[in-house]
Parts: sequence; C-alpha cells; structure tokens
Amino acid sequence: MTQSIAFHSYKGGTGKTTIACNLAAMLATKGYNVSMLDLDVYAPSLHAYFEKTPYKWINDLLSDNAKIDDVMVDMTSVIEEYAGLGKKGGKLWIGFSNPQKEEVYKLEGGGGKQANAKIQLLRKFIQLREDLISEYDSDYIIIDTSPGIRFWSINSLAIADTLFLTLKLGDLDIEGTRKMANDIYGSFTKFGAKSYLLLNRVGGYCVPNTPIVPRNNHHRSEEEGNDAVALPPQYDEADLGKSLSDEVSMDLISAIPCYCDIQFSRKEFLTVLQYPNHPFAKQLEKLATAKQIKV
Ligand SMILES: Nc1ncnc2c1ncn2[C@@H]1O[C@H](COP(=O)(O)OP(=O)(O)OP(=O)(O)O)[C@@H](O)[C@H]1O
Ligand SMILES: [Mg+2]
Repeated sequence: MTQSIAFHSYKGGTGKTTIACNLAAMLATKGYNVSMLDLDVYAPSLHAYFEKTPYKWINDLLSDNAKIDDVMVDMTSVIEEYAGLGKKGGKLWIGFSNPQKEEVYKLEGGGGKQANAKIQLLRKFIQLREDLISEYDSDYIIIDTSPGIRFWSINSLAIADTLFLTLKLGDLDIEGTRKMANDIYGSFTKFGAKSYLLLNRVGGYCVPNTPIVPRNNHHRSEEEGNDAVALPPQYDEADLGKSLSDEVSMDLISAIPCYCDIQFSRKEFLTVLQYPNHPFAKQLEKLATAKQIKV
C-alpha cells in the first residue's frame, strides 16, 4: 500500500519543507521508494533545497506540456552519496514546482478561462498521484504544501492519505489552527484521511524545557539574593502538546525540538544523511518508523 503524506501549516515557516525532505530521504535509506512533490505552488522551494533545475516542472505537467517521466527527477544519487547504500536503498524521485511568478499566476488563475479549469487541474493532481503509485511503485508520496487556506494549499491536501499539521512553538495561532483543523481537515478526514499535529521547534535541546518562573510571579526567599535572572516564561511542551491536541481533536505524531545549529545553519541540507547521529536525525527516525505511517 502507498502512504501519501502532506505537510501543511496554518502559518508559514513551521518546518514543513525541512521535515518533509528529511523524512523522504530517511524513508529512501530504509529501502522504500519515495516520490516527493513540491506542491507549495505559491512559493516553491525544493529546487533551491536540492539545488536542481529540472528539465520540466510540475507546472508543465499541469498545462499538458510534459509527461510524468519528464517531470519526476531521480534524486537517488543524493541519498547514495551520503548514505553509501548502493542497491540497498530505495528510490527518491522529486517533482519540482516552478518558482517563476508567471507560472504561479497561471495556477492561481486556474490554468485557463473555463469555469471548471481549476477542477481540471485538481483532476491532474489526482492523476499524478495515481501514476506515482502505479508507474513509480511509490511506497510513500511526500507532499510539501503552501501554508494557510488558499486554494492550492488546501487542494493539494486532497491527494494525501495522511495530513501533518505542522506548528512552530513560540508562534502559535491556536484559534487559526483550531479553525483550520475543524473546517478544512474535517472534510478530508470524513473521507478517510488521517490528520496529526506535528510540533516543531519545541524547547529541550538548546532551549530549556522546564518552565521558568518570571520574577514577578516568584516569591523569592531572602537566601536567594537579588541576582536571580528573570527569563521569559517557557511553554511546558508536554502540557501544551496535550491541550492543543485535545483542542483540535488531533493526535500528536511528533514534537521535534528546536536545534540552533539547524536554525542558524547557512543552508540546512538533509541533516538525517549528513549527520545521522544528530538528535534531529533521531527524531526523524522515530517519525519514519511511527506506526501511523507504516505502509
Ligand atoms: N527543528 C528545527 N530546529 C531548528 N530550526 C528548524 C527546525 N525545523 C526547521 N527549522 C528551520 O526553520 C526555518 C523554516 O523551515 P522551513 O523552510 O522548513 O519551513 P516551511 O514551513 O517549509 O516554511 P514555508 O511555509 O515558508 O514554506 C528554516 O530555516 C529551517 O532550517
Ligand atoms: Mg516550505
């Protein structure tokens, strides 16, 4: 069976692309055939992440100017380069989206003047998924999407079996997230899709994960002296994850800490392959082997 997993979020910059790419690479090293799609059609980034200019883009497929074989790029060598897997590893195919603004506008306009042009495009997305399953023998289809509730952000979720709603702590929009979970995800889950919360950049690695009491809430004793430093309050992530998960009625699939070296790296690139012992790689290992996404 194929698992099609889409990464989505209410706000931007939550780590969708980073986690999606690392998960795809991790699954391929485990011997699975992975097809990855850049369906962040409003602001594509996989071509920049992988430093690749493809012969044809997903946009060409959608406008009938390319076939699937022209669009899907075999990126397995990237995996082999780092992981030295030879024939053991699975395949990693990637379909890139065109970042040129004319191409983005074309999709935004629905690819044509006919009233049903957007529906036609959606059908092509669905066909793409079918072809990736039948012709590419994909075990996993990993989909990177645009944040928010714009037309293609939501419609690209239609080809997923599993939705990961990615949240970055410190920038929570509980109300927006809850509304999106109820209004939008509800309509997908009604037809059998599963959705999970994925917390990213939680405290615990370079940020203390214990709550710190601010000075004015703190009844200090005489012995404590005056040199106690009042740091901003931290979330208690375990509680926050639980209450969020209750509020939006979605199980929490993972809570990945914030790693300064990733956040401030000049260019994060497949940490799971470059630094397999990095704690981020261990988190991704857990996600890749989670029973909820088993094929
Ligand atoms: N666990 C993490 N720890 C530290 N930095 C992280 C972590 N996850 C992601 N980042 C960093 O956060 C930034 C945003 O990540 P990313 O581009 O993957 O988000 P995104 O959700 O795809 O954004 P957009 O909505 O704009 O497409 C990047 O600089 C990335 O390296
Ligand atoms: Mg992104």
